[in-house]
This record gives sequence, C-alpha cells and structure tokens, in this order.
Amino acid sequence: MKQLWATKSIDKIMQDTGELNAMKRTLGALNLTTLGIGAIIGAGIFILTGNAAAQYAGPAIVLSFILSGFACAMTGLCYAEFASMIPLSGSAYTYAYATLGELIAWTIGWDLILEYLFASSTVAVGWSGYVVSFLKDFGVIIPAYLSNATGTSLLQLPDTGQWVVSSAALLSKLSSQGLNPDMLPHMTAIINLPAMLIIGLLTILLVIGISESANFNNIVVFVKLAVVITLICVGFAYINKENWSPFIPENTGEFGHFGWSGILRGAGVIFFAYIGFDAVSTAAQEAKNPQRDMPIGILASLAVCTILYILVSLTITGMVDYKLLAVPDPIAVAVDAAGPELFWLRPLVKIGAIAGLSSVILVMLLGQPRIFYSMAKDGLLPKSFTKIHPRYKTPFVPTIVTGVIAALIAGSFPINILGELVSIGTLLAFTIVCLGVLFLRYKRPDIKRSFKTPWVPVVPILGAAFSILQMAALPGDTWIRLIIWMAIGFFIYFLYGKRNSLLKKENK
Ligand code: ALA
Repeated sequence: MKQLWATKSIDKIMQDTGELNAMKRTLGALNLTTLGIGAIIGAGIFILTGNAAAQYAGPAIVLSFILSGFACAMTGLCYAEFASMIPLSGSAYTYAYATLGELIAWTIGWDLILEYLFASSTVAVGWSGYVVSFLKDFGVIIPAYLSNATGTSLLQLPDTGQWVVSSAALLSKLSSQGLNPDMLPHMTAIINLPAMLIIGLLTILLVIGISESANFNNIVVFVKLAVVITLICVGFAYINKENWSPFIPENTGEFGHFGWSGILRGAGVIFFAYIGFDAVSTAAQEAKNPQRDMPIGILASLAVCTILYILVSLTITGMVDYKLLAVPDPIAVAVDAAGPELFWLRPLVKIGAIAGLSSVILVMLLGQPRIFYSMAKDGLLPKSFTKIHPRYKTPFVPTIVTGVIAALIAGSFPINILGELVSIGTLLAFTIVCLGVLFLRYKRPDIKRSFKTPWVPVVPILGAAFSILQMAALPGDTWIRLIIWMAIGFFIYFLYGKRNSLLKKENK
C-alpha cells in the first residue's frame, strides 16, 4: 500500500537525470515555441471548426474559441510552473511521480497515451482525408477502400463508378435524384493506408534525430503559419457582415444547439484544437535551458494559437454562411465562397492543412516515446524502452513501438471516435496537473520554482473545474472507453509495473 503513494524525491530525479541524460540538449525558447505551435494548429482548426460552427454555435464559435482558450490558459500556467520546477522529459507523468505518488503517476502516464499516441492517429486520419482530396484535384485517385477506417461502409456511384463513403448527406442526395442507395453496389473499407504511411515516415524521421525533427518541424510550422496568416489577411476583405448576423443564432430548444449552450458545446468540441501546448513539456531533457524556456514555450505557443484561432474563425464565418461549413474542408469552402478571385488560395489552404497536420503528428509521435522512456527509467515499463540509439541519440525503441501501434490504430479507426478519446484523456491529465500544482504549493512550498502560476488557488481551481466540465459534456460511450482503457492500465501496473518499480527496490 505504501508503495502506491510513494513519491520520487525531486532532488534525486534531478540528480539521476544529470548523470544519465544521454539525449542532446539542442532546443532553445524559439524551437520550443515552434514545437508547441507545431503540435497545436492542426485538425482542430482545419477540420472540426466548421462542424462546430454549423451544428452548435454559428458565428459565435469565436466565443467558443475564447472560452476554451481561457480554460487552456489556466492549465497552461499550471504546466509552466511544473515544467520550470521539474524540467524533465515525461511531462505530467514525471510531475505526478515527484508529487502525488506512484499510482497516480502511472495513472497519468497511461492516460497520456490517449493524448499523444491516439492524437497522432486521429490527426493522421485527417491528414489522409486532405491528401486524398489534394491528389484528386490533380487527377490522382486513391481508392476509398484503401483510405478509410476498416469497416467504413462504401457504395459505388452509378455515374463515375467510384467508391465513396456512404454518408447521410450522400444518401439523401442520391434519394433526391430518384436513386435507391440500397440498389447500388456496397462494400466496406479495408484500411486507411495514407494515414499509416505518414506515421511510418515521421517515425523514421524521429528515430534519426531530434534536431532533424525540430528542423523539419520549423519548416512545416512556417508553411502552416504563412497559410493561416494569408487566409486571415486576404479573407478579411471578403467578409460579408450579414454572415455574422445573428452572431449568436437562437437556441433551437435543444441543449447545445445554438444560443449560449451551443457556445459551450462548441467549446467542448474545438478544445481538440488547443491540445498540444503541453507537448512542449515532454522535450524538457532536450532543452538547453529548460527552467527558463519551458514556460516560454508553453505559454507563447498557446497565446499565438489562441489569437490565430479567434481571427480564423471570425474570418471564415464572415466569408460564408456558417450553415455551409459542415464539411471535412471548411476553410476551402470559405475560400470558394469568395468566388474566382480567390481560387489561387484554394491549393495553398490544402497545402497549409497538410503541413499543419503533419507537424501535429510529428510532435505527438515525439512526445509519446519520451513519456514511455521516463516510465521505463522508473522500472514501470520494460528496460529496453530506455535504450538510447548510439548514433542518433534518440529513444529509438519506444519511438518505433509508438509508431507501429499508432499506425495500426490510424489504419483501422474513424476520426470522431479517436478525437473524443483524445479529448477526454487530455482533460483528465489537465485536471490532475492543475490539482497537483495546488497540492504542491501547500505541501512543498520549499521547492524552487523559476515560474510561478499566478493567483493560486484561483487559476488551478478554474483550470481543473473547466476540464471536468468539458469532460462531463462528452458522450457516455467515450466515458466507457476511457474507463476500459484505464482498467487495462491498472491491470498492467499491478501485473508488471508495481513489481518492477525501481522506487520499490530502492526503498527496500
Ligand atoms: N491541436 C491539435 C489539432 O488540432 C491536436 O490537430
């Protein structure tokens, strides 16, 4: 029982790390900020915003972004304090081990797999969608049965002979043309190959090296920022103010469908767009001056993305009627609405989205192995996970394991199930981090913090409360999946981790 609540002394962790750190310290404040932006801007803004505006909030999706951004800022401040206090790779897992005990550390470590590994799979599925559509513009067709989740139902269009996903919108369109969809040939998709391919390629890059990966990330972040900023600047001239009126469409009578409750639900959905600022904290051991630069990286990337999200959502809801945005490529639809003058921007938006999604996958695939590495260093996972590649200086075993599992998941599951699991897992981690900061302020006021969360206890309490609220807004199925996932985790802990814990051996 005592072992479950045993904490690892912060001084000892720091000392061990000093002796054992075999990773290269190459990242400065700017690189850490671009790493954060790399992880943040992705499927959330390029895919989910349109749906959230069309179904829940209308133009007031801008307010959803402000609300969710505020909640993330509370958590970001807590992450920044932890990261400056315990600047080690492993993120919230390491923070919990030093403060809340082994069982909670394991819980959060296992939970973070939902955030990092599953997010890379989720975004890879979105990447596949954009790439398939981009290639189609050039006449290259990737068959639907090789670019969708296993089991997705497809049907063959009578005019072109092409296989397409049988969505509700397509079925009603076919019916309105007098066709009976049941009479058309049906099949199910086999696997999402492009999603698996991108994970495979980025995994290879991550094995080769952290600075190579950071350089690639810098280029990709530059491309996506350029596209997003161009969209805002050019799109602003095409705003039709009538599209913003009414800014908060009247509630339909059902909770979450427009009105103020719609803004709340919209915030829950686009929360996904903010996930990633905490990924900065997984690279602490590769930061040159982590105590100073980790808080900068976390907070600066969050601030930049919040401003861009507010401007992008204002722009697209101003360019087109929000009801038309329930599509997989809402930004392209907004650009189309501006007419032929903006056709040049269309391919650029797709390139920006593909670049944006690539860097999110990269940073998530970078974060996960570093958490596995830290857990293995503590004996909670097999020792082979701590091996550093002699030439590339990267934790190659957990990087490859992460890549293989993430690719299999991306190949087989649809984006909505994955996205909700990522959100609930991340919100659980955020809650524990906020409560951890609060707890530690009272229990260990002596530890040196080069960054201090302001207005304690208000900020951590708000951070935790907002996270719990957003979790509560997620569907029951997602809760069941979370509970099953955590139960598997506890099983593994009691079967393997608890017995092999180095802390247990040291305390004997
Ligand atoms: N925030 C990341 C995205 O929107 C996970 O893709």
